[in-house]
Parts: sequence; structure tokens; C-alpha cells
Amino acid sequence: MTRRYDLLVVGSGIAGLYAAIQAQERGASVLLVTKGGIEEASTRYAQGGIAAAVGHDDTPEAHLRDTIEAGAGLVDEDAARILVEGAAERIADLVRYGVQFDATEGGVALTTEAAHSAPRILHARGDQTGLEIELSLTALARREGVTILEHTLADRVLVEDGRTAGVEVLDTETAEHRRYAADRVVLATGGAGQMYRVTTNPPVSTGDGVALAYDSGAEVMDMEFTQFHPTALHLEGAPVFLISEAVRGEGAQLFNARGERFMPRYHEANELAPRDVVARATHRELRETAAAQVFLDITDRDSSWLAARFPKIYRTCLDHGLDMAKDRIPVSPAAHYTMGGVRTNTWGETTLPGLFAVGEVACTGVHGANRLASNSLLETVIFANRTVQRLFDPPSPPPPPPARTPEANCLAEAPTTTADTAGASAAGAPTIDQVQELMWTDVSIERDGPRLETAVAQLNAWAAALATPEDRPGYELRAALTCGRLAATAALAREESRGAHFRLDYPEPRDEWRRHLVFRHQPDQQEPPA
Ligand code: FAD
Ligand code: SIN
Repeated sequence: MTRRYDLLVVGSGIAGLYAAIQAQERGASVLLVTKGGIEEASTRYAQGGIAAAVGHDDTPEAHLRDTIEAGAGLVDEDAARILVEGAAERIADLVRYGVQFDATEGGVALTTEAAHSAPRILHARGDQTGLEIELSLTALARREGVTILEHTLADRVLVEDGRTAGVEVLDTETAEHRRYAADRVVLATGGAGQMYRVTTNPPVSTGDGVALAYDSGAEVMDMEFTQFHPTALHLEGAPVFLISEAVRGEGAQLFNARGERFMPRYHEANELAPRDVVARATHRELRETAAAQVFLDITDRDSSWLAARFPKIYRTCLDHGLDMAKDRIPVSPAAHYTMGGVRTNTWGETTLPGLFAVGEVACTGVHGANRLASNSLLETVIFANRTVQRLFDPPSPPPPPPARTPEANCLAEAPTTTADTAGASAAGAPTIDQVQELMWTDVSIERDGPRLETAVAQLNAWAAALATPEDRPGYELRAALTCGRLAATAALAREESRGAHFRLDYPEPRDEWRRHLVFRHQPDQQEPPA
């Protein structure tokens, strides 16, 4: 064991940085480890903005209604109320920490995104909200004296006598393993979009925190709910690049390969229907027109307006020979956000004492089966703030930790013995490309029982064949495979359609499935930290 800290934070996106800064402000000694460079995180790519009901004609109550409506019956109402009611205060924190949101003469600029009943999305640098946040918080964390270790991958949560005791890390530059002691560990490792071949997420989003928590015995929930974004740039040879929903918020329309505007056939809110509806509609249009792309049209705006409002998107399109003011943008869906994750209460506590989870890695219940656009950046700061409060300034009496889900209500853990993997076609350990391809093909926007069964069998066979990881790619493959197994197993179990989870063989929601699916793994006995 190298050194003991009051708090150990894993991850340097908005959730980890904000939690570390707030703990450091309270005088705690904080170690933050992150597996790449400090700015490598989904956060820096966030475009649309952060939701907060701060407009003149808006209220937290309306924001709550929209969040619950989007979540398709699975939103935890208490958590969602905390989310919307705390928004203005947490935005004030971000401003205090140096984040400059875009403004108009009347005050802060607010835009609209799908399924929000009012303009309530604050943005920065036009379409580079995440970059502004990431750079501001990184600079502040360094100034505040948070100890930061880059290229340091957390590979195991240390557990002693049923409590969190620290983290084992891999220094990815020296290949050395080290251990750090801390009674409180915050996982802020982001989402698991990289379990899919086509994703808006950066390479770091391999679901490591879910795998770390699951392996240490904490509960994981809602993994069948991956949000697919309908409009990622789709050009032969070009990397996946998000075309923000805010572009539709500013009036863009979607056309299929035959030139027909299709959203009016699917939903009365047209292009601003909930994200799952637009993603599924797009997927169907692609199938029915046998095309690889649909087209986003915002050509009624001129180039100077577009360059000012969406500088990054405008520039990126130009780099690929597309002028948004004249050309329709070819797009298709991509995996975007992991609604499921490590189950927490509204104070960031997981079911393993001393282990906390905040940000996209956590499942607080605020998103239910389908996240409302721009609620995720908000969720990170709301619950990171409460986590730090719980740790260093707890309410009296302290809130109860989340109750463990009774064994009978936990979903049977996906088996990984070769005897249980009948149906698998490929033996041996997989590459991450194979996992991503299988998930994209069989556990995607539209699912069905037979394909999910095959996927579960194959993923289990691969898990059984996986060797102990030795390097970052090895740990990332293991994490993505764990997340994929849990997602596919839960998707197979959930015999209905709800929010982002759509089953062709069960196309309607069913009342008996208005509940969460929880996994809990029985961890191997761990040796106590040295
Ligand atoms: P991240 O920002 O992903 O940070 C996770 C960190 O953990 C990274 O630093 C990573 O390197 C580190 N890490 C991971 N595993 C390990 C490990 N084993 N050891 C050490 N470190 C590890 N949401 C909105 O609300 N509004 C938007 O406009 C918006 N736009 C988006 C656009 C894009 C292209 C994407 C991808 C997402 C967008 N989202 C948006 C979602 C939002 O950006 C994320 O949900 C949010 O930034 C997650 O923050 P986080 O801190 O939880 O995780
Ligand atoms: C976007 O800008 O379309 C992404 C917003 C989000 O994921 O919340």
C-alpha cells in the first residue's frame, strides 16, 4: 500500500473533477486517478448543453414532468425531484469554478432539445459545452492541489471485511501495479458506449466502473437501457461524430434516402420527439429504404449563423466537404449513453459500504428507461455534490445506505462456464472488435429473443475464455465484455418494450415489467490489502 487518502476518485470527467474539487475545498486529502490524459473523457465532447429550468417561463416542476415522461415508467421520482430542484445552485457552482455559459442580451442563452417542454439547455462555446466544462474544472482541480495521477487505470476495488479499503491501479506507462488505501472511493468512470461498434463515446468509455463495482459485489441496475442517438455523422471513412440534438432544436428536419421527411409519420413532436422514438424511426427508415444514412437538413439557416451557433459541428462538416448551409448532413444512429450502471441512492452510495458512484457510471434512477437530453451533465454535478456532502458534511441523522436487493429479486448472474454456453459459435477469447460487432448486431436498437439468446451464449463463452488482463486494452476488453453480458442478459429477460429497450417480439410495455433488473455478483474472496 503506497499511501492513504481521505478520498480516492476514479475518473477525470465532470463527475470526478467536480467531486474532487468539492472534497478538496472541504480540506480532505484527495487522490484522483484517470486511465488516460486528464482531459480524455466523454465530458469534453458534450455538445448540446446542460439542462436547468432557469428560464422566465420555466419551472423545476415542468422539468420534472418532462424527465418522468421521457423515462417511460422507470424514473425514481424522488431522485428526479432532487435533480431538477438543485439545478440552479449547481450551475452557479460551475460558473464559480470558471465555466462561461453563452449569453444573449437578456441573460444566459437557452436552447431547446427533444422532449423538453421549454427552452432550458444552457450551452457554452456554441456546441462545445463539455470542452468548456472539462478545461475549466481541470485547471481548477490543479490549482486547488488535488493529487492527480494520469495514465493510471483502476483495476480492482479493494475490499476488507465487507468494506471498501482502497483501489489497485495499473500504471499504464510502467506496467506497474500499485495499491492506494482509502475508506471512501468514488467511481466516476463514465459510460460503456464502447461495448458497441458504432458509438459517439470516446475510447475511454469501456464501462470499467460497472465492471469494477460488479466484481467487488456492488449491485448493478438497468443495463438493458442503452440510449442510441439518432444523428451521428455517417460518411464513408470518417470517424463517428455527433451532430447535436440542438441542431434539431434550432429547426433541422430529417429526410430519408428517398427525400421524404419521415418524423411526422412517427410522432406529433416530429424531430423533437423523445430520443428513443427518433432513433427507432431512423433505424426503420434505413431498413425500409435499404440505405446507410438519413439526412439532416438545416439549410434554411445561413453559414454565418451556423458557424456562430455550432462552430465545432460546422467546422467538422466543412472538413468533410459538407456546408451545412447548403448540404443535407448524412447521419445514422450510434450508441450514446448508458442509462444503467452501479446502483446508488441519492447520496451516491452503492450497496458496498465505502464505495460511491457518480456520473454516467451510476444508476441513480433519474433517467429511467430513457434519458432526457442534457440531463446527464446535470446529474453528474447534482449527485457528486450530494456524495461529497454525505462523506464530509453528512446530514443528521445520516441517510440510510441503499438496501441490498433481496437475492430472489436479483437477475441470475450470466454464467461463464463453458457448459452454459451452448449456442456460441466462436470459441476462444474475443477481440474488442468482436464484442462490439456482436453487441451492435444483436443487442442494438431493435432486439428479439432468438438473437439475444445467441448473443448471451456467445458473450458468456468469450468471458469463460478470457485470460487475466495484463494491460489497458486487456482490462478494457474485460470491462466491455462484462457490460455487454449484463446488457444482453437483462435485455433477454425483459420481455417487453420500454424506453430505449425495444423488443420486436414484445413491442409493447407490460405492467409486470415496470421494475428494475438488478445484478449482484458473489465476489471471490479477496486478499486483504498489504
Ligand atoms: P466521463 O466524462 O466519461 O469521464 C470518465 C473518466 O473516467 C474519464 O476520465 C476516463 O478516462 C476515466 N476512467 C474510466 N475508466 C477508468 C479506470 N478504470 N481507471 C481510471 N480512470 C478511468 N450530456 C449532456 O447532459 N449534455 C450534452 O450535450 C451531452 N452531449 C454529449 C455528446 C457526446 C459526443 C457524448 C459522448 C456524450 C454527451 N453527453 C451529454 C453525455 C455526457 O457527456 C456524459 O454523460 C458525461 O460527460 C459523463 O461524465 P462522467 O464524468 O460521468 O464521465
Ligand atoms: C446532443 O447534443 O445531442 C447530446 C445531448 C445529450 O446527449 O444530452
